[in-house]
Amino acid sequence: MKTARDLGLPADFLWGASTSSYQVEGAAAEDGRQPSIWDTFCRMKGRVDNGESGDVACDHYHRWPEDVALMRGMGLKAYRFSIAWPRLLPKGRGAVNQAGLDFYDRLIDGLLEAGIEPWACLYHWDLPQALDDIGGWPERDSAGWFADYAVLAARRYGDRVKHWATFNEFSVFTLFGYAWGWGAPSIADRALYLRTVHHVNLAHGGAVDVLHDLVPGAKVGGIHSWQPCRPESDTPEAGAAAALFNEHWNLVFPDPQILGHYPPLLAPAIEPYVQAGDMARICRPLEWFGVNHYAPVYARPAPDLASGSIFGILPEGTPTSGVGWPVEPGAFTETLLTLTERYRLPVYVTENGYGMKTGDDPGPDGEIDDRPRLDYLKAYIAAMGAAKNSGADVRGYFVWSLLDNFEWGGGYGSRFGIVHVDFASQKRTLKSSAKWYTALVKGEAVG
Ligand code: BGC
Repeated sequence: MKTARDLGLPADFLWGASTSSYQVEGAAAEDGRQPSIWDTFCRMKGRVDNGESGDVACDHYHRWPEDVALMRGMGLKAYRFSIAWPRLLPKGRGAVNQAGLDFYDRLIDGLLEAGIEPWACLYHWDLPQALDDIGGWPERDSAGWFADYAVLAARRYGDRVKHWATFNEFSVFTLFGYAWGWGAPSIADRALYLRTVHHVNLAHGGAVDVLHDLVPGAKVGGIHSWQPCRPESDTPEAGAAAALFNEHWNLVFPDPQILGHYPPLLAPAIEPYVQAGDMARICRPLEWFGVNHYAPVYARPAPDLASGSIFGILPEGTPTSGVGWPVEPGAFTETLLTLTERYRLPVYVTENGYGMKTGDDPGPDGEIDDRPRLDYLKAYIAAMGAAKNSGADVRGYFVWSLLDNFEWGGGYGSRFGIVHVDFASQKRTLKSSAKWYTALVKGEAVG
């Protein structure tokens, strides 16, 4: 039995949970919100399992007081949520939606009253559809649209929200949405993808400046998906694919944002979109590095795809989660040490968690025994402690996710919550992982 402190995670370590707007809020057409590219994507035939969407999701838009009370009961110190751009600016720019602004006022005030620090992310993939209609992220103007949205959010909430993230998982939404066509807005085009990478980097840099200018005491970071990339086999082709995939997945956003340059394999391809002064606009001072880590990936060449490389087959015998992702706590330790050494910023784990497709429902007694998730969290949190003990500057951890929610292309069939949601009744039930996490967060010795 060990406490978090026994694991090397000090008393001031920040324990929290994460969600995102489109995945939990629902109320998609309420109070003036207009569609995002994900509303559109969900309506395309065959794109999301069972034709599901975030129309209702966890109904967090209405049930947030209950969700905040749950977090308070668990002793969480922080909640990472995202602001839905199409709630604040239904067309992405221009007319402001008062009801949308009011919603996050209520949520933020409720969190503060509960003693929970709000960590707001400006973009978790729900680009207003109206902006995609005029070109979306591949257009250079998108950096300006994003800066204007950041001004609105910073002015409105900056008196109470001090921790801000610009984007969630830059590489995931750009690869899935613009290189492979597997996510909104369903583009698979090398030139559009590369333009998007550069413009999202510009948008990040601009928003960092806005937040620092308008929010007194702002602490700003970007949130990166970082998964060690390994070759699928020991052929030279697989080795090259892993090096290339590492740049697409891990490096092409944080390197320019923090180190001031694009990584070497991709730099020549992005160069045509870079204008004088751009690299200085992208590389702005940051207070923290957000990392979402789940599992290492194995890469293979994919000459027909815009990224030239892609996920490969897992080595035989790799233990996997309920959604087929490798379970390897050592890769988490490795990630945290790499990030500290490479970027020299305080690291916050803004997502880590375990997906299940089955076996995650209430038993006859109403209890939810999600043992595999609990075991995963236990092993990964110990791995984070090991990283900290070896010098990784990790300051906090937000589990993904507070609630079972809309898991993008997987719809409601993949559950990541530590709190179970019965989507028919919207009833919330703490799973055994949530009870374990509560004990850990409260400083108790846990098994
Ligand atoms: C995303 C979340 C997602 C989670 C599990 C991350 O890529 O930020 O939105 O639900 O992983 O797939």
